Amino acid sequence: MHNEALSALAQRVKEAAQRIYPEVLAVRRHLHMHPELSYQEFRTTAFIKEYLAGLGIEAEPQLLETGVVAILRGQGAPESGERRTVALRADIDALPLQEENSHDFCSTEAGCMHACGHDMHTAMLLGAASVLSGMKEELKGDVLLVFQPAEEKAPGGAKPMIEAGLLNKYKPSAIFAQHCFSSVRSGSIAMCKGGFMAAADELYITVHGQGGHASAPHKTRDPILASAHIITALQHLVSRVAPPHEPAVVSIASINGGHATNIIPGKVTMQGTMRTMNEELRSLLHERFERTVMQVAEAFGVEAEVEIRFGYPVLYNDPDMTDLAWDAAKEFLGDEKVHKSEPLMTAEDFAYYLRECPGSFWQLGTGFGDSDPGNLLHSPTFNPDEQALETGVGMMSYLALRYLAG
Ligand code: NI
Repeated sequence: MHNEALSALAQRVKEAAQRIYPEVLAVRRHLHMHPELSYQEFRTTAFIKEYLAGLGIEAEPQLLETGVVAILRGQGAPESGERRTVALRADIDALPLQEENSHDFCSTEAGCMHACGHDMHTAMLLGAASVLSGMKEELKGDVLLVFQPAEEKAPGGAKPMIEAGLLNKYKPSAIFAQHCFSSVRSGSIAMCKGGFMAAADELYITVHGQGGHASAPHKTRDPILASAHIITALQHLVSRVAPPHEPAVVSIASINGGHATNIIPGKVTMQGTMRTMNEELRSLLHERFERTVMQVAEAFGVEAEVEIRFGYPVLYNDPDMTDLAWDAAKEFLGDEKVHKSEPLMTAEDFAYYLRECPGSFWQLGTGFGDSDPGNLLHSPTFNPDEQALETGVGMMSYLALRYLAG
């Protein structure tokens, strides 16, 4: 499409996103008041289906017990090439956290809160479905709407949805999603090409020794001293095994053993996390992690057990799709509202889609700026700037229209 046609299209989407903002805001607040934990999103699923039905969009058969998949069929045809399907994804689950905000739409569910902005994500995808429904003639292909359950709980909802045939059945040629970030100012977005989020694996170590009187350590096999050396030795994974230019994290975040001043315990347990940005380094560090723990334990005359539980893989933003989203964002929001993001060591199960289908995942700014440093994801006072709903609805809609135009 020519520049003039693109800016006219962007203008139409902007106006539509602005018009629908009050409705999207009401949807977000409704979802915020009624959060549901991973895989328990039954009311949320029903709500999404009902909203889509109001747009004349019937949900596809369930892939999992919760979550919704639906197709919005465009009426246009691309200027050249095949007609394609683009997938837009929102996650819909909340966190086990007691809300501590004071606004009048706080969670009504004790110990459950949308503290990761998935209520915003869901509301924005519904808003985009509404905007695009009103522009079917300009929509030169189909939009696969993916409302995914259980992003917050490993192994996450993305993997089982893919295993249930999501990508094989509907064959999207690209997939996009966005996530709220208070570190980015509302009205802006930030993107990162290539490795954007880390593979996150859970580490579990148990050290078995021989307990005894702490005044006679020579008659024990002390798992505490061995554990201290294991933790220290593990620091070489990042400083000496990982190449200096490759981000990696190995953190032991929990250690438990012993209960008295004069008793050496028989056992110590530790837990931690490993974060990597590249699959090769990930397997290398897994191997060296296990070897380090086992051999240090052996040197100290104790036995160790190691378990590494695989979490989400590296989230890799396809360079071409990220360029496309970047250009679309600049056209839609203006150059000054589109920023580059550094890779993050957090994890996200959108990574699974990106292993099968090219696409991109970006940060939607929901922050109020520097005056608001405590407004963090997963905190009981998480409070995104709701004005960002308009930006997110518009960006999703415009990107889908532009991608399908070919
Ligand atoms: Ni999240």
